[in-house]
This record gives sequence, structure tokens and C-alpha cells, in this order.
Amino acid sequence: MAVIAQKCPEIKVNVVDINPERIAAWETDELPIYEPGLLEVVKEARGRNLFFSTDIEKGISEADMIFISVNTPTKTYGMGKGRAADLKYVELSARQIARVAKTNKIVVEKSTLPVRTAQSIKAILDETSNGVKFSVLSNPEFLAEGTAVTDLLKPDRVLIGGEQTPEGLAAIEALTDVYAHWVPRERIIQTRLWSSELSKLTANAFLAQRISSINSISALCEATDADVDEVAHAIGTDSRIGPKFLKSSVGFGGSCFQKDILNLVYLCEHFGLPEVAAYWDQVIKMNDYQKRRFAQKIIHTLFNTVSDKKIAMLGWAFKKDTNDTRESAAIYVSDHLLNDHASVHVYDPQVPAKSMYADLNYLETRSPEENRAMLTVNTNPYDACKDAHAIAIITEWDEFKTLDWKRIFGSMKKPAFLFDGRNILNHEELRKIGFKVYAIGKGHQG
Ligand code: UDX
Repeated sequence: MAVIAQKCPEIKVNVVDINPERIAAWETDELPIYEPGLLEVVKEARGRNLFFSTDIEKGISEADMIFISVNTPTKTYGMGKGRAADLKYVELSARQIARVAKTNKIVVEKSTLPVRTAQSIKAILDETSNGVKFSVLSNPEFLAEGTAVTDLLKPDRVLIGGEQTPEGLAAIEALTDVYAHWVPRERIIQTRLWSSELSKLTANAFLAQRISSINSISALCEATDADVDEVAHAIGTDSRIGPKFLKSSVGFGGSCFQKDILNLVYLCEHFGLPEVAAYWDQVIKMNDYQKRRFAQKIIHTLFNTVSDKKIAMLGWAFKKDTNDTRESAAIYVSDHLLNDHASVHVYDPQVPAKSMYADLNYLETRSPEENRAMLTVNTNPYDACKDAHAIAIITEWDEFKTLDWKRIFGSMKKPAFLFDGRNILNHEELRKIGFKVYAIGKGHQG
């Protein structure tokens, strides 16, 4: 919304939310999310044509176009538990819009939703409103965290799905006109409603599948004499495959990949396609395996026990340049290590301690008190690594590359092990310093 406001000064953008703290934070220079370049965009438009408020009803009344951008987490209860998307918040939003709206509106689904949700939204709007006409569009968001602003300013494409009726087509055109302020028209793809909804799930499934594919090969590389980065480079130069999203890692995280694949799996089962469901489910199983494999490698290497050993974990966010930790590999790797009674010390440049404890507590593997006793959060990497038996790199933060690795080696217990879950460090240099280095997908290591 901030980018729309920046690029379309004549459009008034009202962002409304029920959470007053969150709305208040958007009015300050300490935005509720860390995203490079975002503050500048917000500052340019804030107070001019970008406004934040908790007055949801006023926001609905005034709007010609309403974007529903609420959370759609995986269901934690009832039918479809652990797989289906929880549409509670979407439905509540739709009901509120229907109740409050007095003039015709275009309602845009921005949240990632299972296929055919737009139909349910439309049904709720039509059945519960007071004769007001609604057009429902699907406009999935493809930005990635950490690069959100650049992704929005220069998107590969914008996707707009709508009903193929005169009103639906007019609504598609209205939203196209908004994006056309800065996105070339040939990059704005118009489709039918369900194709747009399904494209979002499919795009994320394909992206995640690439990571699981290269991660599966990383295990084979380690068992043989190959190097996964060399393999990725060699296959990525085939223009049909392409070089992006082939970086082997400790496993993908983030709010979208797992959730959307689970959703896709649930849909396939629902529509009687168990083979298709099993095919996509394997992408998640491979990701779980990769996270588990990394933790097990640490335990095996440390002479089959990490009990009471200090393990330093560098990075908790699910990727660099974000403070988002949802589904981060760090959560699962540390949970495995804590099960083996390790003393885990974490440093992340952006993630606050309370998020780390909340992430661990959510797993309910042990009590919050036990998590607090076993996991320590450090505010600098040198303290986290001091007297540690091993270091695990979980997030690819740039600053880890330029740490004083000699100093860190000098402060550690020997042998000093380092497990690079992102292959970001210079392993040869580290070995010269004296580290015992393990890196994902490197079968040739010493
Ligand atoms: C993703 C999609 O990229 C985006 O289009 C969609 O709108 C939301 O979901 P995001 O989750 O923000 O975006 O980050 P992304 O850059 O896709 O990374 C997801 C995870 O995959 C991270 O944990 C990342 O570290 C990991 N990853 C990514 C790899 O392990 N290897 C890669 O080569 C790329």
C-alpha cells in the first residue's frame, strides 16, 4: 500500500487494522517490520495520501477499492488441521465489508488463499449486504521479504484475476490502471479468478520445489565427492533451468512456502487427487529432512552428544535482511539440539529475544521455563561464540562474513567446529585458522 501511495499521489490510501499498537508504529520511524528502503517510501507518502487508522468502518465506507490483506495461517484445529488455510480472518473481513458498505466496491484478495475462496467472499458479500454491488478480484503478492520494496517497484509481473463478466472485466481494468502508474502494461497479467488464485500457490510450490531439489542433491554430494555449489552452477547455466533459487541451505522457511504447499496438498486431496497431493507433499518432507539432517550432523560430529555443550547459533531469521522468523530453520534446528540437552546461544542482528522464545514455545516440545533456561540470546556474536564447542550458521546475514574469525577461534573450546548451513563463509580460510568446518553439500571437505 505504501508503494501504491508513493506511485499514485492522486489516490488516497487508508491502511486500517484492529491492532492499535501496530497502527501507531506505522506513524513513527520505527516501523513494525524491518524491510530495507520501506521507511523512505512510507515517509514520502505518509500524511500526503497514505494514512493509518484503526477506524475500519470509516476506511470501508470511504473506499472504492478494498484490499483484504489479513493473515491466512495454516489451520491449527478441526477439519484440515495442519494443512488447510484458516480463512477465519478473511471471512470476518468480508462480513464487515458487507455490513458497512453503502456504495459499490471492488474487493481485492491480497492474502494468499486457496483456490475458489474469491467465490466464498463474493457469496458472503452478496448475501449479507444491503443491495450494494461487489466485484471480487484476486491480486496475489509475489514480493519476497528483505527485497520487498525493489520487488514491488520492479515486479516480474503483476497478476490480476477476475470474473469474466462485464463488471468483472471493468474491475480488472480499474486495478490495472493503478499498477500501470509504474508497471509496464505488458507485465500486468489478467486472468480468470481461479487461475490467479491457483497461480500464487503454484509459483510458491515451484520455488520451494527447486530448493528441496537442490537440497536433496546436497545430501548426495556430501555422501560422494561432489560440491553442491558447483552442481548448482553447472545446471543453472542451462537457460531452461536458470540460476536462481538453487542455493542449497539448511532448509527453506518463511510464511509462504510451507503454508501454500500444505494448502495445495489439501486442495488436491479434496478434489480426489492423492497422487498429486503426495507429489507436492514430498517437497515439505525433503525440507524437514534437511533441517533434521543438519542438526543430526552437529550431534554426530560432536562425538554423538551435545549434552551440556555450548552451541552458538548465528542467525534466527528465515533469511537475511528481515526480522521475520516464521518457519525459520533455526527454530527446528535448535529444537533438535535442545532435545539433546545442548546449551544453545543465539545471535541475530534483527530478531528480538522474545520472538525466539515465542517461536520455540509454539512448538510445545518443552515448557517456556525450560526453553528460557536452555536457550540464551546474545546481543553480539562474539559473546555467543565464546567457549562454544561449535558454531552453526543458520541465516546468511552479510555481517557474518566479516566477523573476526581468528578472535572467535581463539575464544572457543577445541576442537572448534563450524557448521555452515548457508555456505557463506570462506571455508579454506577458516580451516587455515584451525576450525573443523562442515558445509552443506560439500563432499570433498577435510
Ligand atoms: C516467497 C516468494 O519468493 C514470494 O514470491 C512470495 O510472495 C512469498 O514467499 P519469501 O518467503 O519472503 O518469499 O522469501 P524467499 O526469498 O522466497 O525465501 C524463502 C526461503 O527459501 C528462505 O528461507 C530462503 O533462505 C530459502 N532459500 C531461497 C533457499 O534456501 N535457497 C534459495 O536458493 C532461495
